[in-house]
Amino acid sequence: MAGIDYGERIPNNVSLGENRRLQRALEEWQPKFLDWWMDMGPTGYQERDVYLRTAVSVDAQGWAQFDYVKMPDYRWGLFLAESEPGRTIGFGDHMGAPAWQDVPGEYRGVLRRLIVTQGDTEPASVEQQRHLGRTCPSLYDLRNLFQINVEEGRHLWAMVYLLDAYFGRDGREESEALLQRRSGDRDKPRILGAFNEKTPDWLSYLMFTYFTDRDGKYQLASLAESGFDPLSRTCRFMLTEEAHHLFVGETGIGRVVQRTCELMREGKTDDVRRLGGLDLATLQKYINFHYSVSLDLFGSEVSTNAANFYTMGLKGRFEESKKRDDHRLKDATYAVSELAGDRITSRETPALPSLNERLRDDYIADCRRGVDRWNQVIKKHEIDRELRLPHRGFHRAIGLFGEVKVSPDGRVLSEAEWDAKKHEWLPTETDQAYLESLMRPVTERGRFANWIAPPARGVNGRPVDFEYVRLA
Ligand SMILES: [Fe+2]
Ligand SMILES: [Fe+2]
Repeated sequence: MAGIDYGERIPNNVSLGENRRLQRALEEWQPKFLDWWMDMGPTGYQERDVYLRTAVSVDAQGWAQFDYVKMPDYRWGLFLAESEPGRTIGFGDHMGAPAWQDVPGEYRGVLRRLIVTQGDTEPASVEQQRHLGRTCPSLYDLRNLFQINVEEGRHLWAMVYLLDAYFGRDGREESEALLQRRSGDRDKPRILGAFNEKTPDWLSYLMFTYFTDRDGKYQLASLAESGFDPLSRTCRFMLTEEAHHLFVGETGIGRVVQRTCELMREGKTDDVRRLGGLDLATLQKYINFHYSVSLDLFGSEVSTNAANFYTMGLKGRFEESKKRDDHRLKDATYAVSELAGDRITSRETPALPSLNERLRDDYIADCRRGVDRWNQVIKKHEIDRELRLPHRGFHRAIGLFGEVKVSPDGRVLSEAEWDAKKHEWLPTETDQAYLESLMRPVTERGRFANWIAPPARGVNGRPVDFEYVRLA
């Protein structure tokens, strides 16, 4: 790639053109990334023109340029949010010191692990979603899927940039390993549990973008507080893209709810499966599943790692800089769930090791807002039903609740009670088979599958029936 114009091929604001070492590392990595993309990225449509937005700079005009692009030609760029001159570390033992522009030697291993764990989720979700193009409910939805896929690809680039630019040879090895693990693979799985689950259908995908991408938002937001400035700036820019993924999830499920309500009214029945729709009871089960596996991503309620990340100044709280306390938390406490026999209570616990739980609480509050909006849709149709988030202890595998069975309304159950009821709370094979029977591709302009309502508006001011993906 001699004589390459880096600004053109790899849009960036990290002075890539002047950094020979980084150029060399990326020149080696990029072809492997493309191989991975062709192998594990979206099946089908790689040769099609897709109406995509590309970030070419971080200012308001540059960060969202829309045009037809073939996915393999997408310009995956490297972007950091603008630097804040004089930025200092905002929490932990180094609070008040200048933010690190280089990796602090004593935290090198921990920091690399944090970046790799975040980085691993990005290609994982592309792998999980790779077969969805075959069964898209509309061209609009297909385009949004591909937008998310290329952006998760860019998020991988963002983490690989940090590894290659700041971690030398170990960083380059980790960058390679990010392309070698595979979602759901028995021998070399992705690092976190939820990223090894299948995303076999569009409802699961919408739930994933609502619940699991939202975990990403909270992880990125707390890494955006990091004292390691390049990580902070990278994550701040990634959050602008993440917002779109969450939008796809929230409006997508909202549209399913809308369509379900329309069918309920038209057919005067709750059983809209007869009308080729998704009944509210099924939607509730998928909420239960995706919410609970996403809650696990925050880790154990009490965690020395979480305390260390904070004390070291590597990972802050959500909106750390807006909080009015000492940002050290050595004497502070936080209420954490506790099991007392078969009762769930809560207890004031030292704040530092409770930071996972605090981040989970922020996440839960955020999840609720979307559920409230879906319930507004149901109410507007004068239907007396509600969707809800199950109790945080429901169907958990990690932490305190991993050891017990808890009902959606928060009662600790015996194994026998759980076994008798779980099919009412979680998707069954029959539910999944029904769902998959609905997954028939709809690729005519402006048409939508029967189980989902059209969106209120199109992308970037285009009409809903725009040719978002050119099929010929
Ligand atoms: Fe991402
Ligand atoms: Fe995302």
